[in-house]
Amino acid sequence: MTIFDAARFRELWQRHDLALGSPLTVLGTATSTNDLALEAARAGAAHGATFVADQQTEGRGRQGRRWFGAAGESLLFSCLTRPALRTSEATSLPLAAGLALREVLSRHVPPDVVVELKWPNDVLASRKKICGVLVETQLQGSQLAAAVIGVGLNLRTTSFPDELLGSATSIVALGGVAPEPEALLLEVLLELTRYLELVQKSGLPALAVELDRHDALKGRLVDIDGLKGRARGLDPCGRLIVVDELGVERRVVSGHVILLDG
Ligand code: BTN
Repeated sequence: MTIFDAARFRELWQRHDLALGSPLTVLGTATSTNDLALEAARAGAAHGATFVADQQTEGRGRQGRRWFGAAGESLLFSCLTRPALRTSEATSLPLAAGLALREVLSRHVPPDVVVELKWPNDVLASRKKICGVLVETQLQGSQLAAAVIGVGLNLRTTSFPDELLGSATSIVALGGVAPEPEALLLEVLLELTRYLELVQKSGLPALAVELDRHDALKGRLVDIDGLKGRARGLDPCGRLIVVDELGVERRVVSGHVILLDG
């Protein structure tokens, strides 16, 4: 028996015309759902295959970090997508996924909680991380063969490990009511589909207004792997614009952002 109820998800899923979410694999414990999805991608699985775990023994985040998630306290899943995008457009995927998750989460936290995107792929609620996205790709020449979108979303965690104290939160910790995980996954997949379609049709510019509106970094003092400066939004390629301490404008492709002003 798993905590995530596959039959319940399928019952909800079949009411929609949705490619993401099928076939669905649910495990009580996985090493990492991203690993399962990447393996499936290599074996030729189709767009939409989705892997959910109640808990992970080797859950990972960006830049080799570990991803913490106690059983039943978070929604942990990875979705295998095969978007019609060039390799050079892959940077739009974490941003599209982040916006999809931001949209869904904003429906489940109390109305006074601001839900924002922390470039490149964290979702913050009341300035604390509530959700992380890890996109891992497989390439075929200049085209994307597969993109695995892995999501860890904190539902009801109220006690975090020491290193996350003060920087992480969950729907319940914010005073919200944790939704049924099966219904939440469906909501996320519907939004993810909408944002993926936008990006495939019109590219990153289609997300520019929303990225700007929900940018948690704009105007803030940041340190990105040693580069200190003030964030000035994203450029049309999804790079973070930072004006450094000498007033020079820099464009950052990827990195870990630390907020220096609280
Ligand atoms: C980050 O914040 O650095 C990204 C975290 C992504 C975590 C999720 S949990 C489900 C999937 N499986 C993993 O091993 N990682 C992602």
